[in-house]
Amino acid sequence: MVGSGAREHALAWAMSKSASVIVTPGNAGIAAHGITCTATPATMLDANLFVIGPEQPLVEGLADTLRAQGKSVVGPGKDGAQLEGSKAFMKEFLAASGVPTAEFGTFRVLDEAVAYLRAMNAPYVIKTDGLAAGKGVLVTSDFDEACADVRDKLSGESFGDAGTTVIIEEGLDGPECSLLVLCDGTNVLSLAAAQDFKRVGDGDHGANTGGMGAFAPMPSMTASHVGQVMSTILSPTVHELTRRSIDFRGVLYAGIMLTSKGPKLLEYNVRFGDPETEVLVPLYGDRVFDLLTRVASGSLDHELAPVSGSAVTVVLASHGYPAASRHGDVISGLGPDGQLATAIDGVLIFHAGTGLNDVGQFVTAGGRVLAVTAVGESLGQARRRAYEAASLINFEGKVMRTDIARDADKGEK
Ligand code: AMP
Ligand code: GLY
Repeated sequence: MVGSGAREHALAWAMSKSASVIVTPGNAGIAAHGITCTATPATMLDANLFVIGPEQPLVEGLADTLRAQGKSVVGPGKDGAQLEGSKAFMKEFLAASGVPTAEFGTFRVLDEAVAYLRAMNAPYVIKTDGLAAGKGVLVTSDFDEACADVRDKLSGESFGDAGTTVIIEEGLDGPECSLLVLCDGTNVLSLAAAQDFKRVGDGDHGANTGGMGAFAPMPSMTASHVGQVMSTILSPTVHELTRRSIDFRGVLYAGIMLTSKGPKLLEYNVRFGDPETEVLVPLYGDRVFDLLTRVASGSLDHELAPVSGSAVTVVLASHGYPAASRHGDVISGLGPDGQLATAIDGVLIFHAGTGLNDVGQFVTAGGRVLAVTAVGESLGQARRRAYEAASLINFEGKVMRTDIARDADKGEK
């Protein structure tokens, strides 16, 4: 397992039910949970299966390198990873495959971008072309703020080279859904629909983050809704991948907005979502290793039995997130294994950014620190358990949303 966050912790934990797992590089919480972590890079390790968690190594071609060594890999090569690595590539790909998405323009020159903004209606949606850890998107109705954002991105001030091409999109409206689909090069299987909470504050206020929490399945995404997304978005995408001879073996994560005109694709990621994985993995549990083995070998079945129960994840982030992150704050409420010190049924703590101080206490070591997950028979039960667990874990400056899965639990979303 390649990576160092809560997503990798969740995947490694699930796979360790069926296999012996090594995580590179992993983190303090994964190691404390009894899963081997090593600093040795993946290219120098031997294993029957390699699962690549984050986007950066995929975009850089790690899957190609491993496959060239004869390894079995979950994760697309550099070609398929462009769907996430370049939003301009992705938009061109969507146009070629006829997938519904927001109207857009691509710009490298400030004056042309400003002219486009002037001609469109608010809200303005401005995205960096390259990877920006989920923080490269501004949605605003303020024309001056939009212009300033374009200027900062194009100048390289905001995201360096990743930002010097911008995409400006029409604003779409509606609930969002993360549909993660396993793809073995030919067959696609959808996992339960998940919802991610991207803004830092309650009520979807504040800056975009990597994700402050999630739940799955989404009660509003019925089988027929999922079927519609599969037929209008995923099938044409896989068809276009095949047409371009891109052998995509990995997870295709469709970020979807359910607009009044039907589902539209906001973005593709070419990997498991974070924190979506922290809710999906506990729901699939023992099945995860077999599914991933089949993704890598091109032998997925045609159907996946639905999950029972629900899962909710509440992310605890460090002081100042997402603009900054403070390290070294001592975390209370965890036992020596990095799990909750006080037992609550159905709770799992996945570590995103923790370390150990000189006296062996867990301390904050990243923007997102912990993903507190609970499964339950109902969404309400999972939610109550997750928040009860989250209230037992404390550190100076803890940042947390209090409304993860609240509206869905009330049947409002
Ligand atoms: P992305 O990284 O493209 O998924 O964008 C991050 C977040 O920005 C999404 O989850 C949406 O909440 C918001 N967003 C992206 N594109 C649009 C759009 N065209 N209209 C409205 N909101 C958007
Ligand atoms: N949850 C958003 C992401 O993984 O990109």
